[in-house]
Amino acid sequence: MDYYQQMLNKAAEISSKEEIYILALETSCDETSASVVKNGREVLSNIISSQIETHKEFGGVVPEIASRKHVENINTVIERALYEADISKDRLDAIAVTYGPGLVGALLVGVSAAKALAFALSVPLVGVHHIEGHISANYIEHKELEPPFVCLVVSGGHTQIVHVKDYGSYEIVGQTMDDAAGEAFDKVARVLGLGYPGGPAVDRLAKQGDPRHIFFPRVNLKEKPYDFSFSGLKTAVINYLHNLEQKGEPYSKENVAASFQEAVIDVLVEKTINSSLMLGQKHIVLAGGVAANSALKKLMKKEADRHQIKLYYPSPVFCTDNAAMIACAGYYRLVRGKISPLSLNAVPYLQLCENE
Ligand code: KG4
Ligand code: ZN
Repeated sequence: MDYYQQMLNKAAEISSKEEIYILALETSCDETSASVVKNGREVLSNIISSQIETHKEFGGVVPEIASRKHVENINTVIERALYEADISKDRLDAIAVTYGPGLVGALLVGVSAAKALAFALSVPLVGVHHIEGHISANYIEHKELEPPFVCLVVSGGHTQIVHVKDYGSYEIVGQTMDDAAGEAFDKVARVLGLGYPGGPAVDRLAKQGDPRHIFFPRVNLKEKPYDFSFSGLKTAVINYLHNLEQKGEPYSKENVAASFQEAVIDVLVEKTINSSLMLGQKHIVLAGGVAANSALKKLMKKEADRHQIKLYYPSPVFCTDNAAMIACAGYYRLVRGKISPLSLNAVPYLQLCENE
């Protein structure tokens, strides 16, 4: 029997166990994270070593530096995750890891460490799609949440409306044609001189501004009612600022932040609600870093309530990159026998539906 078949048999045995412990690793961008999760939804530890301070001076993530930092940190982060969960390596049932999408050098650090651990411990390896992780973050705090539902995935690299039909079964309803929502937040924050990452800074500043002070465009693509486009909005903000700067006129950063943010969330909310109505789904779930945005949560809640739709979103720590969400997604793959061979590689442009 080959090694992969042995692991498949092991995964089948594990599925009937009362207690299943998964160690997960996440290194797709600028966070080195390791987490131990029991039975898919009980987080025993979730260690996140952020590289934000390192990348800040460059105004964004520098891929080569990110890979090097992951290499430096990964073993310590794993040890801390095991220590905090108070569990020894030999009690682990499987190792889950993000294998795409993301920065290839960064992903490779997690994938290599996960493969080494899985082989050394002779336990199944489970490759997880990063966005499947973000979606699964919602299962951690909402024990009653089960598919099907509509999920708005809004991160630094992704803006998608996903119909989650079952665990591991996804259909993309709509997505961005250009920039991701988080990318737009980061770029606007940069021109406003708010630093990196921009989303939280814009969120904070917008609270003191008037969202109706400036009207920035909301793009509605006629033949693609569930798709997004944010590059025109970004350009409109930049033009607005340059125009005033050239004339030497003052402007309020607070009003620009609030008006820009309102333009983004208006379309996110409208298209997500419309997708749920079109699909007849009564549950909406938010996922990804931008799901931490306070104005987005507020407006989505208001509109969901108006349509008797129930809204779920994770706490901020589970919105941005973390390994607990990867462990959770890994659990549902493991119990369905969807494990990975030891030849698993990093796939920087992995598509969600390829991962089924
Ligand atoms: O999911 P995530 O941690 O990483 C990716 O997979 O991309 O998302 C990071 C993104 C960044 O663009 C960041 O600016 C944005 O999420 N973000 C926010 C907020 N917190 C993080 N955007 C708007 N409001 C926030 N409160
Ligand atoms: Zn992410």
